[in-house]
Amino acid sequence: MTIHTELEAQRPQAPAGLLSRAEKDRLIERGMLGIYRWYFDQSQTKRNWNPYRSFDWADFGKNHSPELLMILERFFAVEQYVPDYTSKLTQLTRKSMGRSHFQVLWGAEEAKHSELWYNSLLFSTQRSTKWLSEYLYNLRQQEWKLPWDDALHMSCYVVIQERATQLNYLNLMKIAAGQSDKPALANDQDPVLVKAAKVIANDEAAHYGFFLSIASLYLYYYPAQMLNALHEVIKHFAMPALDMFEDPNWGEILYRTGIYGAREYTRDVLQVAIKQLSVKSRKALELGIKNSRLVPDPDGNICDASIFESFDYKEVGTTVKNTIDRVTRYAKEVGIHDLDPVTFTPSGIIPTA
Ligand SMILES: [Fe+2]
Ligand SMILES: [Fe+2]
Repeated sequence: MTIHTELEAQRPQAPAGLLSRAEKDRLIERGMLGIYRWYFDQSQTKRNWNPYRSFDWADFGKNHSPELLMILERFFAVEQYVPDYTSKLTQLTRKSMGRSHFQVLWGAEEAKHSELWYNSLLFSTQRSTKWLSEYLYNLRQQEWKLPWDDALHMSCYVVIQERATQLNYLNLMKIAAGQSDKPALANDQDPVLVKAAKVIANDEAAHYGFFLSIASLYLYYYPAQMLNALHEVIKHFAMPALDMFEDPNWGEILYRTGIYGAREYTRDVLQVAIKQLSVKSRKALELGIKNSRLVPDPDGNICDASIFESFDYKEVGTTVKNTIDRVTRYAKEVGIHDLDPVTFTPSGIIPTA
């Protein structure tokens, strides 16, 4: 018996039609592990930059506006809570190797972001090391707490949060490229900052992509629970660590500099994220939740068809299949596919709405 057939023989036999909870959980975990391994490879081969050596820090702008410096300070503040983010998210997902090991790798990438923004302040020469250490000391008196205590809600939260973070950095890049229409930022052109913001935004895009794949997996196998979680997370969403700064001006600075505001959140974050999860609109999501009874059977399968009015379930299936196909291509390339294959298994759920 080959390892492949042995693995197949060990697979729980699912009944025809809908999958059992155990089988769905197994498929999600296999998928997560495959996506994590693909992500690991991409991280090492395509995004392996260094916060000290990859930038010409000596050429960093020394006369940036007070507004731009405040933005850098706060970007550093958010990123430097990485030990809190990583420890809590790893603990929350510890039963899943794919997800928890990802959080460790993700944490290493976020630590680079923290170093990058620290360096930007240091090389600006507008903040002394004494000021920086006091700032850091004060920040570390606070502890970030999980906004949700389950993996499903947190999967939705991080999709929105990573997309918003990517957008913040892309908008900073525009300022540094001289594309801002705000007079106060007219002298903030800086090629080193353009590169820094671009590199970091690229990481955030990769984080967003990973979490989107995970959210799609959940949405495919547990559509009712996932839609409900998404609905709740959207309703209460706030960016991480904002409430910890004791900084009433933070939101105002972001808005005033054109980096982030309610319009950007709705148009460039929420609408993009929910569209990529095949949800028709926020309104459709709300209606679908309201109209359905959302009472899953013991295997987590939903009996009420009205949830399918709010999103394109077939499209979610295609997204998951494409993701698994990408993982398979990578697994074949590095030679692990024959020994440890990750395959796509249809959920058996047939949307009837
Ligand atoms: Fe980051
Ligand atoms: Fe991130």
